[in-house]
Amino acid sequence: MIADTRIPATRTIHPKILYFGTPVVLLTTVNEDGTSNITPMSSAWALTDRIILGLGEGGKGLLNLSRDPDCVINLPSADLWHQVEALAPLTGVNPVPTSKAAQFHFARDKFAAAGLTPLASDCVRSARIAQCPIQIEASVQSIQMTGDPVRFAIVETLVHRVHVHEGLAQSDEHVNPARWNPLIYSFRHYFGLGCELGKTFRAQV
Ligand SMILES: Cc1cc2nc3c(=O)[nH]c(=O)nc-3n(C[C@H](O)[C@H](O)[C@H](O)COP(=O)(O)O)c2cc1C
Repeated sequence: MIADTRIPATRTIHPKILYFGTPVVLLTTVNEDGTSNITPMSSAWALTDRIILGLGEGGKGLLNLSRDPDCVINLPSADLWHQVEALAPLTGVNPVPTSKAAQFHFARDKFAAAGLTPLASDCVRSARIAQCPIQIEASVQSIQMTGDPVRFAIVETLVHRVHVHEGLAQSDEHVNPARWNPLIYSFRHYFGLGCELGKTFRAQV
């Protein structure tokens, strides 16, 4: 067989992380006192009216969803990456779990910590984030625990209502994709749909 020189050769590597580039979600969930916590996450995908979330065990987001199914899947645009990174070293869990203590600290009010504005939702008790151009009200249908030794949950949510910033709606049924610039988390670095914006505090390269 003649080798096609246009196809690069491959090498086997052992990546420490496999976050291959998905949109960032700012997940709001209901705290015990009725306020909302914000969990930055990127393991999320949609099919019809379901959105599946991957959440680490021991995080406040999963603890809240295990007690109260309400949530909002807020989608930040690329220009909000500094606010997302302001949330990155925080957890709503107090005291901070030992496994996270070296890099994370507790924040009761993550809206204040990141300069974000809560908005009441229509169908759920968790707040929307006003600055996020897409805000999806949803509730948990099932939570399945998996993973060894690092445990995480596969959370299936059902969408109830979708809000978008005025300029983003092409019609009552469509988002204008040319105007939507999601914040992409790729191997711990932030991108828009163009060039790199920066990286998270935990990035090693
Ligand atoms: C951009 C970004 C994406 C992340 N993606 C996820 C994710 O998909 N799932 C997850 O459990 N944690 C993810 N994390 C880590 C959590 O945000 C982190 O554990 C945080 O402390 C959780 O907050 P909480 O304990 O208040 O829920 C991500 C962090 C950042 C900055």
